[in-house]
Amino acid sequence: MSQVRHSNRWRSVANFLVANFVHITAGALGVLLVSFLLWSVARPYITPGTDFKIAMDQGLYLDGISYVVGNLVKDWDRKRSVWLKQHEQMMVGVGGGRASMVVVTGSQPQPCENPIGDHLLLRSLKNKVDYCRIHGYDVFYNNVLLQPKMSECWAKLPAIRAAMLSHPEAEWVLWVDADALFTDMEFEFPFDRYENHNLVVEGWGTYQRRSFTSLNAGVFLIRNCQWSMDFMEAWASMGPQSPEYAKWGRIQQSVIKDKLHPDSDDQSALLYLMLEERAKWGDKIFLEQEVSFQSHWVGVTNRLSNFSRAQLEEDRKSGGRKRNAEKVTRGYGAQTDRLPIMIHFAGCQPCSGKHNPAYGAESCWEGMNQALAFADNQVLRNFGLAHLNLSESAVSAITHI
Ligand SMILES: *[C@@H]1O[C@H](CO)[C@@H](O)[C@H](O)[C@H]1NC(C)=O
Ligand SMILES: *[C@@H]1O[C@H](CO)[C@@H](O)[C@H](O)[C@H]1NC(C)=O
Repeated sequence: MSQVRHSNRWRSVANFLVANFVHITAGALGVLLVSFLLWSVARPYITPGTDFKIAMDQGLYLDGISYVVGNLVKDWDRKRSVWLKQHEQMMVGVGGGRASMVVVTGSQPQPCENPIGDHLLLRSLKNKVDYCRIHGYDVFYNNVLLQPKMSECWAKLPAIRAAMLSHPEAEWVLWVDADALFTDMEFEFPFDRYENHNLVVEGWGTYQRRSFTSLNAGVFLIRNCQWSMDFMEAWASMGPQSPEYAKWGRIQQSVIKDKLHPDSDDQSALLYLMLEERAKWGDKIFLEQEVSFQSHWVGVTNRLSNFSRAQLEEDRKSGGRKRNAEKVTRGYGAQTDRLPIMIHFAGCQPCSGKHNPAYGAESCWEGMNQALAFADNQVLRNFGLAHLNLSESAVSAITHI
């Protein structure tokens, strides 16, 4: 009996549900819709479809990881790959299908002593920002001492480490000294060439010459991986934060005969690791001797005006009025085969003004001024404008030349 009553009751409930299916569904959907709206108002920054847990956890992956050199980052390859897996959705489009890179550069925290120093640094930053905009790279300009004892030339190592940890999406970090300027805005690093390497540095017979000038640590590419964490730790162990700093200056001088400065410096420390610990690190270091990333400014800047004039003449002939939107253009007036990719004003010290006495102050600042205007012309041509005279800040319309 009771079973029959039960089944009767269930049957009538079932009949009611069937009869009112549309209303109930609509009601339930309504409740869902209202709660979704409330939920999205409460959390407007989470787009529907994003994995909620991942969105909540993002940023927490750095737990227990420090930027401070001397406190080795461990297991970074695994942590980074976990992060990359969790953020696949966000990664779509990063690097536009090309290698993703963060360009890291920076300057001292204080104002420059050289009156024109801050102006040159601002334009030097603009130069890098333009390069990054054109290629879709990120840029990190650091002007704080992440590790106060690691100042001047050593400040780059904590900055690079911080960029790697904060940008797990970036495969490469490009370090560029503030006094190195891009002069070929179209240039793209041949990442395929460096597939099996973790550090790419430009050198000239480095292993044979054992000379301070056989390498330049002002511009280099370093892969975001555990090897680089280990390598930078070894590199930084010769820095001013180390109790053995004084000893390292002497050791470097015994290995690099033409090292003049008695203190341990980052370039000599890099040379030391390459020369004395080649078995440990050498197979992952690509010594770039064919693609010249940078040229020293002496003997180069005086050629810029002629190159610029030739380029402007070509632009005028081909009708400067026809232009692509900057976003889609590939035409920056590439000079790859004729001009350096970057010009390095090593020895000029634009911020402190304490330039190498071998160079005149005026030729340093004027050289930088012209190199910056030269690079800027490659950006401005997409706006139909150019500095006709690289020494002047004034611009003219290309059609009116
Ligand atoms: C620049 O071009 C002028 C005129 O064609 C030439 O006289 C001069 O030698 C060139 N300067 C350099 C540095 O090549
Ligand atoms: C370019 O400008 C500088 C500074 O105003 C001037 O001294 C120089 O003569 C100009 N060069 C040319 C070719 O007009």
